Order: sequence, then structure tokens, then C-alpha cells
Amino acid sequence: MNLQEQEARYIINTYNRQPGKTLLIERGEGALVWDDTGRQYLDFVGGIAVNVLGHCHPAVVKAIKEQAARLLHASNLYYTGPQIELARLLVENSCAGRVFFANSGAEANEAAIKLARKYGRGRYKMVAAYRSFHGRTLGALSATGQQKYHKGFEPLVEGFSFAHFNDLASFAGLIDEQTAAVMIEPVQGEGGVYVAEAAFLRGLRDLCDRYGALLIFDEVQCGMGRTGKLWAYEHWGVEPDIITAAKGLGGGLPIGAMMAREEVAAAFQPGDHASTFGGNPVACAAARAVLETLLEPSFKAEVAARAQIWNEKLERLAAAHPDLIAEKRGMGFMNGLELKEPLAQEAQRRCQELGLIVNAAGERVIRLLPPLIATEQQLDQAAEILDQVCRALEERGEGSI
Ligand SMILES: Cc1ncc(COP(=O)(O)O)c(C=O)c1O
Repeated sequence: MNLQEQEARYIINTYNRQPGKTLLIERGEGALVWDDTGRQYLDFVGGIAVNVLGHCHPAVVKAIKEQAARLLHASNLYYTGPQIELARLLVENSCAGRVFFANSGAEANEAAIKLARKYGRGRYKMVAAYRSFHGRTLGALSATGQQKYHKGFEPLVEGFSFAHFNDLASFAGLIDEQTAAVMIEPVQGEGGVYVAEAAFLRGLRDLCDRYGALLIFDEVQCGMGRTGKLWAYEHWGVEPDIITAAKGLGGGLPIGAMMAREEVAAAFQPGDHASTFGGNPVACAAARAVLETLLEPSFKAEVAARAQIWNEKLERLAAAHPDLIAEKRGMGFMNGLELKEPLAQEAQRRCQELGLIVNAAGERVIRLLPPLIATEQQLDQAAEILDQVCRALEERGEGSI
């Protein structure tokens, strides 16, 4: 049996892999990956927003190697250096006062939901947005405003309700004295790359303050430099009470973080929450290398300049294909091209044939998540492939798309 056949035989069938078309990725370096036939691709999915520094960034690999040779794991019954140093770095570079480490985005959100309930002393209502995605564990799933993910798993956790993203009145109608928290992605990712409006986030902050509810920003996808700033909320200057992070944090290793304001964090006491692997030394050493790289002033300036070039290219692409592309959304290195027809899968397939890996978020949105280290030349190359695919799709539709 080849690997694909073994996968079909041995792995539980939860992932939509396309037989015959699914790549078997063997190696990665920077913005590039190679499949098992040795073919090279530009990777603009990056593990779905994980590889912010690209594949096998030298600083991350070095940190992992050094830490792996020293200590792979120790229980949270004891102190380990990388965990504490990473927490300090996160606190010094965010509005949070303390950190809890988990192993994934969903787990970071579970921790946030539990902390909001504990802090709320009996409050358990939570308001989230339609189109949101917060993860697959039962609490995070209950906060996810997309019915397709709920199907088959009801009854979900009690207390969650949904309002429309960027529609303050819709949230205002659901928040009251029983609300423990409002949970929002400042830039919705899986839902199709929708950016929050400043007035919406400010309004949510005011509503939460008025009713004594916590404001949770899920920055699992849009955090860690993805939008051009370390945390997306910095674009609007609206500070949440809790931030969750994962994906890009570990540079490719599994780690999640739930960060909270000091006073909110104090609601958790020993025994309230825990994770065997949370704060694992190797994952934390990798995350520290990622953060230190992202925080270097020269790196930040370069990323900002290339992000601007990339966004302008995408604007031009959308303007050149008005019959195909309805809208370019997003910021920094987190963008979506909304198509007028449900052709995102087809576009994804064609891009891959031409050596560019992109992701279809739903039927109509091409999601682009290049690493922050993608060179100008690589961004150019990607824009050219996208242009070529758009032209091919237009020709196929002969003006009818
Ligand atoms: C915004 C957001 N929150 C949470 C998650 C869940 O993260 P994980 O898959 O690491 O559990 C995701 C994953 O796509 C996400 O995009």
C-alpha cells in the first residue's frame, strides 16, 4: 500500500482530502514546500496561518534543537524556564497580565470560556458572532457561529447565542447582566476573512463595560503578526480582557495561550484548570524564537513594507477581474478574495497546478495566508499565478461568470 492508501485504511476519516490531487508534502523552507515527486510550490496556506515565519525558520529550528537536547518535558508541578520566559514576553508585548498555556486554539478558547464563567460568578451567557470559528472541542464549537459544524453534535454547551459581525445593534440586543463574555475574532478567518470595523469593536468594549461582561478576542488566526501588527486589536486600540492565541505562536509546534488581564486571571485558582502538555518546554522555546523574531524592529518594518505591496497587488488583481472577483478583503498577510460565483475550489485546484498553494474558505473565498517572510519576488510570482487563474476562469465562463 502506498501512503495515500494507508491513510485511507488507518486514519479516521475527518479530513476532506482529495484522492489523487492531495499533495504529500515532504519538505519546507521559507515560503516553499516540496511534494514527494520533488515538485516545488509556493505555500500561501502555511498550515492555515501557522507558519508565520515560513517553514523551518532557522531561529525556530535552532531553539527547538537546543531545547530538545536539554529537556523535552516536565510536569507543571515544577517550574520550567522556557514557559516562564515565554509568558513574560507575551505579557510585556500585549495588554494581558498573565498567561495560561494550552496546546491548540480550541483549548485556549476552552480556557477562556471557563475563565469567563469563573470570573462571572454564576454568569454563563456568552455572545459570539455568526460566521465565527473558535475550534472543535465542545465549548469552542458551541461558540462557533456556523451551523454546519454543530450538526450531529447537539446538544451543545448551554448559554451561547449569536449576533451579526460588525452589527453592534445585533450584539446589543443579546448582552445583559447575565452575560459572562462576548467572544469575537477581530478578523474572522474560517468564515471568509472579514475585518472588524473600529466602531464595532469600540461599541462592543463599551457594551461589555456597561454590563460587566468580559471581551474575549480570539486571535488564534489573526494574531502573531498576521495582520501586520503583533495582535490584530492593536490596529483599533480596543483592548480585550482576554486574548487567545495559537497557530503562529509555536512556529509549527503545537501550543495555545490564553492571556488575561491581571484582575480577570485572578479568578482562576490552583486546580481550576490544567493541561499535561501546556507550556511544554520545546513548544515554548520555539514560540519564544518566533516572538523574538517578530518583535525585531527591522523585521517589523520589512513586513509592513511587503504587506503594503502585497495588498496593493491584490487590490489591482481584484480591479483587473471585476466580473470574477467581488471583493478583496483582509489586511497584512491575511487576505481573502471573494468570488462572484462558487469557484473557490476550482481556483484552488488551478493555482496548485501552477505551483501556488492557496485555500478555499467556503465556496467563494480564496484565502491567502503567505508567511511574513515571503519575498517581494515570491509575492509577485503568486500574484501572477492568481492573475493567470482568474483569466482562465473568466475565459471558461465566457463572460457569464
Ligand atoms: C480563529 C480561530 N480560533 C480557533 C481555532 C481552532 O484552533 P485549533 O485548530 O488549533 O484548535 C481556529 C482554527 O482554525 C481559528 O481560526
